[in-house]
Amino acid sequence: MDRKANIARLKEIDHERVLYQNITALLGWDQEINMPESGVEGRSEQMALMQGVLHDKITSGEIGDLLDALGASEQQSSGDPSFSDMERGLIREYFREYNRERKIPKKLVQEMAVVTSKAQPAWVEARKSQDFSIFQTHLEKIVALTRETTECLGYKEHPYDPLIDQYEPGMTTSEVARVFSGVKKDIVALLGKIAEKGQVDDSFLYEPYDNKLQDDFGRKILTDMGFDFQRGILTESAHPFTTGVGKDDIRITTRYNEPSMSSSLFSTIHEGGHALYEMGAASPELKGTSLGTGISLAVHESQSRFWENIVARSDDFWENYYASLQGMFPDQLGKVSRDAFVRGINKVEPSMIRVNADEVTYSLHIILRFEIETALVNGELEVKDLPEAWNEKMREMLGVIPANSAEGVLQDVHWSAGLIGYFPTYALGNLFSAQFLETLKQEIPDYREHISSGNLIHLQRWLNEKIYQKGGVYTATEVLQQVTGKPLDPSHFSRYLEEKYTRIYDL
Ligand code: CO
Repeated sequence: MDRKANIARLKEIDHERVLYQNITALLGWDQEINMPESGVEGRSEQMALMQGVLHDKITSGEIGDLLDALGASEQQSSGDPSFSDMERGLIREYFREYNRERKIPKKLVQEMAVVTSKAQPAWVEARKSQDFSIFQTHLEKIVALTRETTECLGYKEHPYDPLIDQYEPGMTTSEVARVFSGVKKDIVALLGKIAEKGQVDDSFLYEPYDNKLQDDFGRKILTDMGFDFQRGILTESAHPFTTGVGKDDIRITTRYNEPSMSSSLFSTIHEGGHALYEMGAASPELKGTSLGTGISLAVHESQSRFWENIVARSDDFWENYYASLQGMFPDQLGKVSRDAFVRGINKVEPSMIRVNADEVTYSLHIILRFEIETALVNGELEVKDLPEAWNEKMREMLGVIPANSAEGVLQDVHWSAGLIGYFPTYALGNLFSAQFLETLKQEIPDYREHISSGNLIHLQRWLNEKIYQKGGVYTATEVLQQVTGKPLDPSHFSRYLEEKYTRIYDL
């Protein structure tokens, strides 16, 4: 076959693979939203079947032959330089996944599936009874299998490298350690200054707020952000998430029965940020291909956090929206000034639980997990010593110590599912978002006026042009370089926090 026929064949295989992925996403959506509890067993069989089909597709001999013919190699993973950027992006993604999936023996994948399927109920039980020992042996097996996996995948510096690379391609342990260590020092110092100040009042967020009105308000903001309700929906679920079920079918969820009204509102905006990226990535050229989606978890998270924190938790944003929110909820907010409201939604307080953490302390929760995961994977830390190590790091970074393992080491589901290497992407998203903001300030100097006049679509258009519509064509590092002209620099995030919280807390 000639090169034209080869790339056409790769695109054909890709299109079919995306359809299978969409079907799998639909099964997952249905499981979260509609399925009766008794459906779990049948659904996990269906899911396993789909995972198998997808695995066979990506590791087939035909893919290997095509990649060879297209000139892909370790030195040149995007194939022959004469292909278009889109084609090179596609070759790069297939080369990466083909090699990765071929390196892990099927037996190891199956063993991990068995171990995690038992580990998850054990984790639920352990958390409920606040007893780490119930989960310990399961986690020991997961760590052992994870270490075996890293040996199969191979690495140059750190056994954690292939794990982080799975979720954030191109990122290394030493690079994460570099950016995290800078930001950790700055955040701990900022927290110290905040602790010396009087705490802000946010009690008005904890009053009852009507769900229907919250939903109306969330939809109004999503619409202003550019969320296209012709191509997407918003509904409720236990844990907010975003999923793409087809090329013009992007779904997000939120939850309203939370203790704090702000956690519902900002969940909606957060998932809205993910959805805008997905909607923009489905440009005519990329729609229905593997590249018609966000490039990486960190860049994705940078977009959700950009909208949630940088835009919607700013004073500028509420200059436009506060009067209408107050009008909807006169009993709860009638006597609360805009200034007091903005302070309330930005309250900083060290706490035990990552998912409830504020913008300042959130990254410390992630850095803690990164330090623990790297130590577990390279053998410096044993699972049995984990609760103690966790509590010590909480004390060191946040100045608080969990009263039990449920609000400590057992709080997150990730490890029981075998997800090691995933956590860093959350905090990397914060770092990316602050660096994008620096460029936005230069390119749209009056961006704050756009926010304060409710002209959010202006920001959406900029993000669309710079980030969304590129989809998965360029790597995360390339996108960052193209947009900001620089590699990842954590000082942007530190400065952003410093400036914002100096205002909020009169530091
Ligand atoms: Co997110």
